[in-house]
Amino acid sequence: MKNVLIYCFAIAFLFIATDLHAQSHLYQDPDAPIDERVEDLLDRMTVYEKIGQMTQLNISMINTTGAASDFTLDEEKTRYLIKNHHIGSFINGDAVAPETWFTFIDGLSRVGMEESRLGIPVIYGIDHMHGASYLAESTIFPHNINLGATFNPVHAYQTGWVTAYESADIGHRWGFAPTIDLGVNPLWARIWETYGEDPHLASVMGRNFVEGYQGNEEIAPFRVAATGKHFVAYSDPRTGWDRTPVQLSMQAIREFHLPPFQAAIDAGIKTMMLNSGEVNGIPVHASYEFITELLRDEMGFEGVVLTDWADIEKLVDLHRTAKNYKEAVYQAVTAGIDVSMTPLNLDFNHALKELVDEGRIPEERLDESVRRILRLKFELGLFEHPFPRNDRLYRIGTEENRLKALAAARESIVLLRNENDVLPARDPGLIVVAGMSANSKRNLNGGWTLTWAGGTEEQYPDDMHTIYTALKNEYPDAEVRLIEAELRSNANRELFNSADLIIYAGGEEPYAEFTGNVTDLTMPQEQLSDVEFLSEFDTPLALVLVQGRPRIFTSVSEKADAILFAGLPGFEGGEAIANIISGRVNPSGRLPISYPMYTGHFSTYNHKPSGVSSSAIYPFGHGLSYTEFVYSDLQLNSESMDKDGSLTASVTISNSGDVSGMESVLWYITNHVGRISRPVLELKHFEKIELEPGESTRLEFEIMPMKHISYPDRYGNRLLEASRITLSVGDLSQEFNIVD
Ligand code: BGC
Repeated sequence: MKNVLIYCFAIAFLFIATDLHAQSHLYQDPDAPIDERVEDLLDRMTVYEKIGQMTQLNISMINTTGAASDFTLDEEKTRYLIKNHHIGSFINGDAVAPETWFTFIDGLSRVGMEESRLGIPVIYGIDHMHGASYLAESTIFPHNINLGATFNPVHAYQTGWVTAYESADIGHRWGFAPTIDLGVNPLWARIWETYGEDPHLASVMGRNFVEGYQGNEEIAPFRVAATGKHFVAYSDPRTGWDRTPVQLSMQAIREFHLPPFQAAIDAGIKTMMLNSGEVNGIPVHASYEFITELLRDEMGFEGVVLTDWADIEKLVDLHRTAKNYKEAVYQAVTAGIDVSMTPLNLDFNHALKELVDEGRIPEERLDESVRRILRLKFELGLFEHPFPRNDRLYRIGTEENRLKALAAARESIVLLRNENDVLPARDPGLIVVAGMSANSKRNLNGGWTLTWAGGTEEQYPDDMHTIYTALKNEYPDAEVRLIEAELRSNANRELFNSADLIIYAGGEEPYAEFTGNVTDLTMPQEQLSDVEFLSEFDTPLALVLVQGRPRIFTSVSEKADAILFAGLPGFEGGEAIANIISGRVNPSGRLPISYPMYTGHFSTYNHKPSGVSSSAIYPFGHGLSYTEFVYSDLQLNSESMDKDGSLTASVTISNSGDVSGMESVLWYITNHVGRISRPVLELKHFEKIELEPGESTRLEFEIMPMKHISYPDRYGNRLLEASRITLSVGDLSQEFNIVD
């Protein structure tokens, strides 16, 4: 009898299960191939549902007050947008506690799953630029300009990895990083978001960020998507001001600006954000040539292309390439965008619907974009795991992660000058610290930290060090005095006279995007005169530059005994700077940009032979150490090779000083003949090593002409002439020939 009952239950269960299965759709089957799931779902969607998937709205559209810092989900507004307008993506916010984020995104995702007719999950996008920077309690790494200075790809990887680790669980599945624009214009207010001016450095760093972020398996069952931005040539506006026109030859774009984007594509980056500005007269958002022909057809990008903030609107009121919003939507969609970061209204949805109804944009064009968007959502596992989780929030801001950020910050500080070896300052009795960045947390972080243009001092964690508090910690037996006002008072003069070291930490206050536009790159006058004043004491003076771009200080550059380029080193920056001043850490950062000497005379290190050769006060790659590295015995295994050949170079590097240290070994080539003029120097390979005093190592670099020496013409054809090449590493160089 018991067996019969079990048998009956089993039959009944099978029947119900089969029936359930019959009711569910192919796209809901996690075991079905993604392509089939996408097609099945796409077939079931209406035109307006498809348009909703192509739309991204700001948090202010779904919270109660409309402020970016308001995390009370307004369910009515959210229901309306998801049920009636099928919105597929939301963005933005503020650095609130993990539980607050969790509750907010959990609520949003539940409305998404319940109210969208087909149960399509929403995806949340966020600007986590250097760690999960829109999340309180998270680990904050240095900004990209500092990561570039480390010349150590591990740190870009860790930044990506930790960002995913700390933010995927709370529902941040789409990170708007890495910025892989080239930092070639020192005036540009976003130069600190880049890895510097060199295409190879930016390619390696960007690729590693993508691998760390998208490849993090500890966040399973979740996955996240990185965004390469801002495609392309955003970073070199003629005026230096944000989003002003760029005039650049296609050859230069291909040779210098495309490689980091290509490297990110090759690393499997899932999304790209477009450059807001115009390039050669055409806003990138309206450029079929850039989006469809170049990025997709030629570079092979198959992922999702996202507009930047309100950029379709800007085609009307900024660039004026479209007479009204509907025409702007026509231009952008025809050019090839997939997702519109609209983000403050439903104009895109209405306009696109009209364009489809009128037959001006075929539904098949929407299908192309929606396929990519759905594929992204399937690949990230959002259909199976649409809700955030809060059972692993203890993984946010751990000591282990903090140490990764500290290691990156330490390697990112560049010692520009060190006359008479005034640093490290061992056993000082009295250190006096002054300057606007001496006791500031926000200045160490710059923009895109806690909020868009940088938080207030009070928003930073209590236990985050400033330079001053870190120095007190670093030197428990010394007196460390902070000068906050009246630098020139008699009492302070006495202190400066009797100190063993004066540290002046100047630089810039936080800014983001256009709020950082300046008309003069010179260091603010007040700071120049402070340095001048402090240099008059007999006490050694160390200048610490806490800033997002190279503010020009040539008039006082020789007045300071030591100079540290600190950039924007993040939460661990204070400690890293103190470690270097004390000698606990031997500096190993190298400049990822050319530090200009003159306000009217800029050029990158890889300028053309007829370009300016001496406009940098500190060149790209410059950076001192407390030890000495000696390069010797540079050998090539051949003196010539043909175009398809290869050649191996090797060199010995020895630490001939008294302390251990890290060294970035930078290999450059100079190609002496090119139909399109060749840069005087090109970084082709780098490696960071650590050597104990007296230790040596031998490194190799295999040179392949097509990979390392050929270059594109304006159509993208690779050119390579028979030519003489100089290979240089450290202070050594050797020549070889490429023969036909
Ligand atoms: C910036 C992007 C950013 C976006 C979303 C834009 O203004 O240019 O870099 O990802 O805003 O916040």
